[in-house]
Amino acid sequence: MDAAAAVIIAALLALTTAVNALSDAEVSYIAGRQLQSLEASLTAGAGAGGDLLPDDFEFDIRVGVTFANDRLRGAYVALQALRRAIYSDPKNFTGGWVGPDVCAYFGVACAPAIDDPAVTVVAGVDLNGGDIAGYLPAEIGSHLNDLALFHINSNRFCGIIPETFSQLTLLHELDVSNNRFVGVFPEVVLRTPVLRFLDIRFNDFEGELPPELFEKELDAVFVNSNRFVGRIPENFGDSPASVVVLANNRFDGCIPRSVGRMKGTLDEMILLNNRLDGCIPPEIGELANTTVVDVAGNLFVGSLPEEIGDMGKLERLDVSRNQLAGEVPERWRAVTGMRADGDR
Ligand SMILES: *[C@@H]1O[C@H](CO)[C@@H](O)[C@H](O)[C@H]1NC(C)=O
Ligand SMILES: *[C@@H]1O[C@H](CO)[C@@H](O)[C@H](O)[C@H]1NC(C)=O
Repeated sequence: MDAAAAVIIAALLALTTAVNALSDAEVSYIAGRQLQSLEASLTAGAGAGGDLLPDDFEFDIRVGVTFANDRLRGAYVALQALRRAIYSDPKNFTGGWVGPDVCAYFGVACAPAIDDPAVTVVAGVDLNGGDIAGYLPAEIGSHLNDLALFHINSNRFCGIIPETFSQLTLLHELDVSNNRFVGVFPEVVLRTPVLRFLDIRFNDFEGELPPELFEKELDAVFVNSNRFVGRIPENFGDSPASVVVLANNRFDGCIPRSVGRMKGTLDEMILLNNRLDGCIPPEIGELANTTVVDVAGNLFVGSLPEEIGDMGKLERLDVSRNQLAGEVPERWRAVTGMRADGDR
């Protein structure tokens, strides 16, 4: 390769980095814009029964343009608010988000309304992998009331999950993983009544987990790779989830004794890379149908409880990178792919 080509390639690489990375200054600018817009929405919506926008709020609806129904008009308002909250869209996902036919927008899925199959509504938004930088405007919660699925993983959304998300009464799946969301655990997600799948991993959430998370009827809980701290709430075992992943945070203390109550539903429990240092409780042995337990990379000391031998369906047990001592029972050594190799 000649020198000129090398310089051009180096310049292109630098450009790619500049486009993909979001500096802390940009993050705080975008988050600041979200705050301003949330405050403006609250002021405009005061006394308007939760309707967060002024009645004449219209972005570019030309005279004479009509919507198939009011719910699609609401969706249009929300999607245009989202488009305006986007600062960078390198894959041009939203470049075609123009005009009233919201069902033709990239990443937007329409379906017959649950309460009235004759009416078409926006049931899903999926912008996974867009590398989009922006924030979530309040209008998503207030105007996309038919949303069942909201997936925005692997983007660069900043700021917080707006309080209006509690108005998403049909929201079933929320995946905001691998973004730049900040603040304490977004408790608003616990007030979305029918949420079953929650994925907030790979963000910058901090603070303690609220116990209510484990009272919610979730099938899956992914909160790994954030900055959560403190004890795992005592009511952990009340969760009916089949997969619970708390890995790569800074939780300390014990695995709560309530863990045994998950015996009817829990398939995988992944707690690796935290600062858990208390007990692994004997109740873990009650998890007769659980197939994966990973507590590697914590500060556990002493020996494993004998009762772990009662876990008849265990396929993978990883207790490595702790301070555990003692024998690993014979029967697990035979299990394929299982690591029960203590402190190595
Ligand atoms: C983005 O998409 C729109 C609509 O498909 C198109 O008109 C526009 O030219 C695209 N922009 C870029 C930079 O590719
Ligand atoms: C484990 O699964 C079997 C078969 O599905 C079921 O009969 C049993 O009740 C389950 N055990 C527990 C503790 O829920």
